[in-house]
Amino acid sequence: MAKAVLPPGVRTAAHRLDYMARYITAYKPDRGLLKHIVFPAILADESRRRVLFVGVEFYTVPYLWQFRDREFWTIEPVASKAKYGSRQHHIVDVIENLGDHVPAETFDVIIANGVLNYGVDTPAQAEAMFRACATAMRSGGLLLVGWNPRPGGVQPGELGSLRELFEPTVLEPLGDSSHEVLGHQVHVFNTYVRR
Ligand SMILES: C[S@@+](CC[C@H](N)C(=O)[O-])C[C@H]1O[C@@H](n2cnc3c(N)ncnc32)[C@H](O)[C@@H]1O
Repeated sequence: MAKAVLPPGVRTAAHRLDYMARYITAYKPDRGLLKHIVFPAILADESRRRVLFVGVEFYTVPYLWQFRDREFWTIEPVASKAKYGSRQHHIVDVIENLGDHVPAETFDVIIANGVLNYGVDTPAQAEAMFRACATAMRSGGLLLVGWNPRPGGVQPGELGSLRELFEPTVLEPLGDSSHEVLGHQVHVFNTYVRR
């Protein structure tokens, strides 16, 4: 049917989009959960106005639209990726230096998905990252950490900064403050509130 009505170029694009949607659903279920369950749950609370998203890629561009009615900030150290970040509020730097760019208690939410063990690779870096996040968040603010457990990798449970400055919290409907998603690898979402 599609073959009969769509010109070849459009058909190719439609096939690619269909493939990507299947790939994301089957191979990266954490991505679907993030976009369709976790983000709506964050957005459901209107008091969460100022949101920071850490680390951008071409595939995170739709999140700009999803958070369009919030003050959505992005931070990414690779300058050439600024085109994937927020038009109004993009910072080119590592998250560890967040305090050089915003005053204390700026954010209601910080989303750090896929950054631990993807750039923030040592316990010292991770401690610096979460201390910087804590300073930049208001008390009661929400921190979401999405990460892949790896042998020898950094684990949130081992970090003093998270224990001291944050408390695990449940973001309904995840059901637990630590939520594992099994895809081609395990992805864990940990949720905390700033003390
Ligand atoms: C695997 S991608 C994850 C992108 C996105 N956060 C997501 O949810 O898929 C990791 C990104 O984090 C960025 N990154 C690496 N080290 C960082 C750091 N210290 N601070 C902020 N971003 C960093 C990388 O440049 C890359 O764009």
